[in-house]
Amino acid sequence: MTTTASDEAIWLFGYGSLIYKVDFPYLERRRARLRGWARRFWQGSHDHRGTPEAPGRVVTLVADPDAVCIGMAYRVTPAVFAHLDHREKNGYARIAADFRFDDDSEVRGLVYVAAPGNEAYLGPADEAAIARHIAGARGPSGENRDYLLALAAALRELGSDDAHVFGIERALHRIGDDATV
Ligand code: SIN
Repeated sequence: MTTTASDEAIWLFGYGSLIYKVDFPYLERRRARLRGWARRFWQGSHDHRGTPEAPGRVVTLVADPDAVCIGMAYRVTPAVFAHLDHREKNGYARIAADFRFDDDSEVRGLVYVAAPGNEAYLGPADEAAIARHIAGARGPSGENRDYLLALAAALRELGSDDAHVFGIERALHRIGDDATV
């Protein structure tokens, strides 16, 4: 029997920048939902949206039995993980997860999660504090606020009603409004 790269393809669930910054080849992509995990701006970023001295804030997943995280799943060949592991190297590890597509079919795939205790982990803060932090951070990949705004726009397009992300986005806009009065 011969195998092809596509036979070995793996589904990857993206819930943060992997939704809107697709700088990797994929065979197929589908909206998906991951039960039992909540998206949270609790991970520090030393290499993309901040620096080791002044980290930015980006999303990770936090276990929550009541949560459903909407994201985008990509079917990729194993070779793609060389690039993605480098891109997600600041505290994220790939873990296996089962997620569902809109037609309710389920697949086992992978997801990058930055667990508490990793070198860049920041943990919880209230929405206003997270927004202030994001408003002041930038790194080699650009302004931290652009990460938040691009993610919020992508989630709106996916039809995800993510109270945490949209609450921080509103708080960021309030900071902008206050600064102009
Ligand atoms: C992801 O998007 O799935 C991981 C977190 C990120 O790169 O923003």
